[in-house]
Amino acid sequence: MDGSLGEGEGRPKTPWPLPPGDWPSREEARKALLFQPIQMGSLTLHRRTWVPAMVPWRATEEGFVTEANIDWYGRFARGRPAVLVLEATGIRDIPSGPLLRISHDRFLPGLARIVERVRKESGGETKLLIQILDFLRIRRRPVPRVYFERFFELKRCHRERIRALAPKAAALPEGELRRWLAAQTQDRLSSILDPREFQDLVYGARENVGDLQFPWIRDLPQSLPPLFARAAARAREVGFDGVELHYAHAYTMAQFLSRTNQRDDGYGGSPQARLRLPLEVIAAVRSEVGEDYTLGCRMLGDEVIPGGSRIQDACDYAEAFARAGLHFLSISKGGKFEDAKPPRIGEAAYPYTGPSGHECMPTTRIAAPGPWSRNVPLAASIRKQIHAKLSPQQPKPLVVTAGGICSFSQAETILQTEQADLIASARQSLADPDWFLKMEQGQGPSIRRCTFTNYCEGLDRRHKEVTCKLWDRLFKPGDPVPLSRDQKRRLLPP
Ligand SMILES: Cc1cc2nc3c(=O)[nH]c(=O)nc-3n(C[C@H](O)[C@H](O)[C@H](O)COP(=O)(O)O)c2cc1C
Ligand code: SF4
Repeated sequence: MDGSLGEGEGRPKTPWPLPPGDWPSREEARKALLFQPIQMGSLTLHRRTWVPAMVPWRATEEGFVTEANIDWYGRFARGRPAVLVLEATGIRDIPSGPLLRISHDRFLPGLARIVERVRKESGGETKLLIQILDFLRIRRRPVPRVYFERFFELKRCHRERIRALAPKAAALPEGELRRWLAAQTQDRLSSILDPREFQDLVYGARENVGDLQFPWIRDLPQSLPPLFARAAARAREVGFDGVELHYAHAYTMAQFLSRTNQRDDGYGGSPQARLRLPLEVIAAVRSEVGEDYTLGCRMLGDEVIPGGSRIQDACDYAEAFARAGLHFLSISKGGKFEDAKPPRIGEAAYPYTGPSGHECMPTTRIAAPGPWSRNVPLAASIRKQIHAKLSPQQPKPLVVTAGGICSFSQAETILQTEQADLIASARQSLADPDWFLKMEQGQGPSIRRCTFTNYCEGLDRRHKEVTCKLWDRLFKPGDPVPLSRDQKRRLLPP
């Protein structure tokens, strides 16, 4: 296993140029593997094209579907990808801001309208999956004064550490000492506070699966399987073609799989223990939705954080998921809180701001070997292990790869060399939701090509309605173009 975290050091002096637009003719496309059907569980996919989950921040504050959500998915479906995955959708019935939820039957009428629109716009060709997710509580970064007044528990050990640095301050009464702390530099505070307290101050308090001191975290192995199972049952009831369990990035299930998970209750520590809850969730979902319903997961090929899981861990997890009968594995990379940048005061940490986040949505400024097909080797290793270890009779999950795929030859080479079974494209599909269709119809030169500079990701970071900077802004006041809340951007591709 490669021991280094990055595949190259430093940012390139000049951005990586886009891969050539080697678009196929209609005849070449007809013969291409990319446009051949493939079986995924009981679903026949008409092509090997996939639009992975992308949160567009268009739900209501209560997690309900809006007209803007319906238009958004309808627009992607018009480009007829074989699979379209609905954004990360919450399974707990708790306030989660403008994130879609499937945590109660009251959310189903809205979700049903998305299903209906996708069927209509794609002529029934696009299969619609829903990504279901659990995440733990995260608070916004506090104002230091508020943190020390309201949240900080002043203990004897703090006074002792302060005494070593500033003896006079250590003798202050509690109220004054709290104000004194709020005025100190981060450098100084890092030697006064415990690491967790320092993290709460600089990033905002964030729970993780190792917090066994909290009963609700200790009980996750009991609470999560039924929550996932009921959410999946609702997805089936409302007409989604399948479910993608979110086992990737910074969220709860990925935390269980992480090598950093040191829970000592049988759900952390060894590889088998880290896999235990993800497998129990699969079993619970399966027993609720039945054997024939399409079920897969999004998982990390590499966490890309110190002490985190690497590709060999991922291959072993994937093999276990394959044996558990998942129909697809959608491989992503990084996107962790551990190396994220401190957010601004009043904002929450965003897991795509550090080195692992850059691996998840690579830009043209990423280190060698650049963004193009950057994460394909992870998918290839995973697929190789599954095919080597499972017997020829055992069904194998399809492996989906994403990350910097935006040209025909990239996609076709990945399939021809059996590095993956399905080609996912998030940002290129955002820039031009018709791009797969245009390629297939021999109209490649008219594709609007993503620049991979992450304007969209910046909007996602601030929970603003996600749009692409390439969508034209030529609209007059009064045009029937749905606009963003600030009236500056159109909400759909032209
Ligand atoms: C605006 C935006 C929102 C995203 N939301 C999700 C999400 O909800 N769930 C998820 O698994 N990945 C999410 N991703 C990651 C993408 O699915 C994809 O893995 C990543 O962008 C790399 O693929 P690409 O190079 O084709 O864009 C998001 C990406 C973007 C740009
Ligand atoms: S905003 Fe930029 S990175 Fe995002 S889809 Fe558009 S061109 Fe691509």
